[in-house]
Amino acid sequence: MKRKLLSILILCSLAFTLVSCEKASYKIGIFLYDESDTFISSFSEEITTRLSDSYDISIYDAKKSQSIQNKQIIEMLENEKPSVILVNIVDRLSSLALIQKANKYNTPIIFFNREPVSSSSIDNKNIYYVGTNPVQEGINQGIMAEKLMNNPKNINKLIDKNNDNKLQCVFIQGESTHQDAERRTYSCIRYLQNMGYDLDILAMENADWNRSKGEKTMENIYTTYGNKIEFVFSNNDDMALGAIDYLANNNLLQASASKVLTPFPIVGVDGTKNGLSYIERKLLYGTTINDTAKQVSAIELVIQLINKQTTRDAVNDKFNFYKDSNYIYISGSAITVD
Ligand code: BGC
Ligand code: CA
Repeated sequence: MKRKLLSILILCSLAFTLVSCEKASYKIGIFLYDESDTFISSFSEEITTRLSDSYDISIYDAKKSQSIQNKQIIEMLENEKPSVILVNIVDRLSSLALIQKANKYNTPIIFFNREPVSSSSIDNKNIYYVGTNPVQEGINQGIMAEKLMNNPKNINKLIDKNNDNKLQCVFIQGESTHQDAERRTYSCIRYLQNMGYDLDILAMENADWNRSKGEKTMENIYTTYGNKIEFVFSNNDDMALGAIDYLANNNLLQASASKVLTPFPIVGVDGTKNGLSYIERKLLYGTTINDTAKQVSAIELVIQLINKQTTRDAVNDKFNFYKDSNYIYISGSAITVD
């Protein structure tokens, strides 16, 4: 009996040292493009909560500068020999140079949220991408508008204010070089057109994911089109909230008994804390969750795959690599005032 207890104790302490050794030796560098970005700061929190127990992680903020990020990455590759780096690249066009650097050190890269632009990365087995599914998010925005409009041949008059059976709409877009901005806008438009709606796109302007730029953009657009606007599609929640800031600061928000917000419904993407509270207050009509929890789970599994603790098939069962590539796109659920 005594001996049994002793061997259990020995086993436990052995397991304990093994785990702590592994943590110390499994160093991960995490490189953010801009920690002041609302969505990225919540992504970074999620990564820290989920990965810091099992891995030795260090997080760096590039503050939107690719040259700062390059320095941070090269310094870490040279001095700390990380087992893997997670890169939220500032400038997607710099991905090929970065891939070549990391290859020199034999360090695998998991890009996240900002997809690398380089066809060669897809063939490289040391390069992965994990991000949201922007095509689904665009379709969800289209579905939100569709539900409010009802019939394409006879659009709900609460929306179609000028009664021309067309949707006069506006797109506030993220960074012009960001894959999510482009795909959200495109898939939303294509969805609505496929469903038979006639879109009259009054304006499409970039506000770089940023709330105060969203406000400025709404000012430009509203001073040109005013009440002609029937719907606003924003590529993320922060810019949508900026648009609402403009309307609120200029007394343009009217209380409405119906769920259709006036002067026009606005939809976003991300499901940030603020975004969700604006939906509760019926100021934002809807959003789609940019699911950081699931994206971090996918990242964790890819780390295990790189570490040979799991197989590609097992990862595929849970998250699906896109076609035969190393890319994973995670869908999130839609939330509206309803
Ligand atoms: C999010 C934006 C965020 C951007 C940063 C997008 O997927 O929707 O809110 O600013 O990623 O790269
Ligand atoms: Ca109309």
